[in-house]
Amino acid sequence: MHDSEALAHEVIARCQTLARFSEDSGSIRRTFLSPPMRDCHREIAGWLAPLGATSRVDAVGNLRIVYPAAEVEGPVSRLLIGSHLDTVPNAGPYDGVLGVVLAVALLSACNGRKLPFAIEVIGFSEEEGIRFGTPFIGSRALIGRLDEELLNREDAQGISIRQAIEKFGLNSADIAHAAVQNDALGYVEFHIEQGPVLESVGRPLGVVEAIAGQSRLEFTFEGHANHAGTTPMKLRHDALAAAAEWISAVERRAQDTPGLVGTVGAIQAKPGAVNVIAAETLVSLDVRHQNDETRNTAVSYFIRQADDISRRRALRVRSNVLMDQRAVPMDPFLVSQVEQAVASAGCVPYRMMSGAGHDAMILAEKVRSAMIFLRTPGGISHDPSESVEVGDVAKAIECGSCLLEQLASSTEFPRKTQHA
Ligand code: HGY
Ligand code: MN
Ligand code: MN
Repeated sequence: MHDSEALAHEVIARCQTLARFSEDSGSIRRTFLSPPMRDCHREIAGWLAPLGATSRVDAVGNLRIVYPAAEVEGPVSRLLIGSHLDTVPNAGPYDGVLGVVLAVALLSACNGRKLPFAIEVIGFSEEEGIRFGTPFIGSRALIGRLDEELLNREDAQGISIRQAIEKFGLNSADIAHAAVQNDALGYVEFHIEQGPVLESVGRPLGVVEAIAGQSRLEFTFEGHANHAGTTPMKLRHDALAAAAEWISAVERRAQDTPGLVGTVGAIQAKPGAVNVIAAETLVSLDVRHQNDETRNTAVSYFIRQADDISRRRALRVRSNVLMDQRAVPMDPFLVSQVEQAVASAGCVPYRMMSGAGHDAMILAEKVRSAMIFLRTPGGISHDPSESVEVGDVAKAIECGSCLLEQLASSTEFPRKTQHA
């Protein structure tokens, strides 16, 4: 077995290398099919030759790395291990990327030994949803859920997803070939927790049981611009003041509802001048909860609140649902296998929920899926100070190697998928 500590140092160094590939100088931002994504693909492909693995980029820009199976009779099945290569703006160096780089380290840890199934490492092209407002473009293609409506979604420059694919030199006519066939035995994703839980209980690794559902919406408050100096307060139809009142209502409801999180992360006021009352405000909303009914009830309340506030201020408001992703349980068999592998790596398993969304929640629709969390020091993520402990990465590598051994020798892990 490879020295997991040495591999862990290599994983961290490689994540730092990939962090250099950014659309912005001085900070990390890598969105769907941006030029730095090509640099990532090239850098990672350069690690594979010594491992006997090959790579390609599929029609939606996912990096697809295959480590072949041992010689087996009949069709070969594959275990998928992956995460995303795109980032939020001003990102940390580990969100998503760590899961891809750690998966490649697991191929190294195989030491050339082949398993009764192939391993496909996937670096998804878009999980965050920054460029087009809709996340999971890469993983949706794997389950055949990248439909026309999505492909026609446009970014701030009016470029559609389909056009972005063509501009990157890919062929959107080949998207169907990106889908996993029925040879996918399962999907495993290593990811930083991005929260405070594992640190608070003193555990290096977490076993994810389910991923919270999430809703993403945008609201447009429409008032009337006017002069900031001459317009009396009671004659105003201030779109920014209305949005501010609504944002406080969102926060209050989330604070009062156990397990609910409501976030207004982006706001744009027009015309955006210091001495002009805002005519229009565009506001984002992200709502999450592990129970879909609680989440949907909260979303309906937020929409009603926006209507009530706008009516009272003689403004108009419209809302648009960008995403409604149900909460997704992980596969019980794989979760138990992960739990066993965590224990074999010498850690006390800790089962938990994921408040963050992940590609696993998309893959889970077609492929049995599981996630392993790594402790996030300070619970800080989506920020340059995001970090991991090298010892926790070493434990994750040991856990991953134990998991591969378990699945290779498991009689319950069918060589054919459940969808066969
Ligand atoms: O927003 C999320 O949950 C994740 O970081 N994509
Ligand atoms: Mn993220
Ligand atoms: Mn992520």
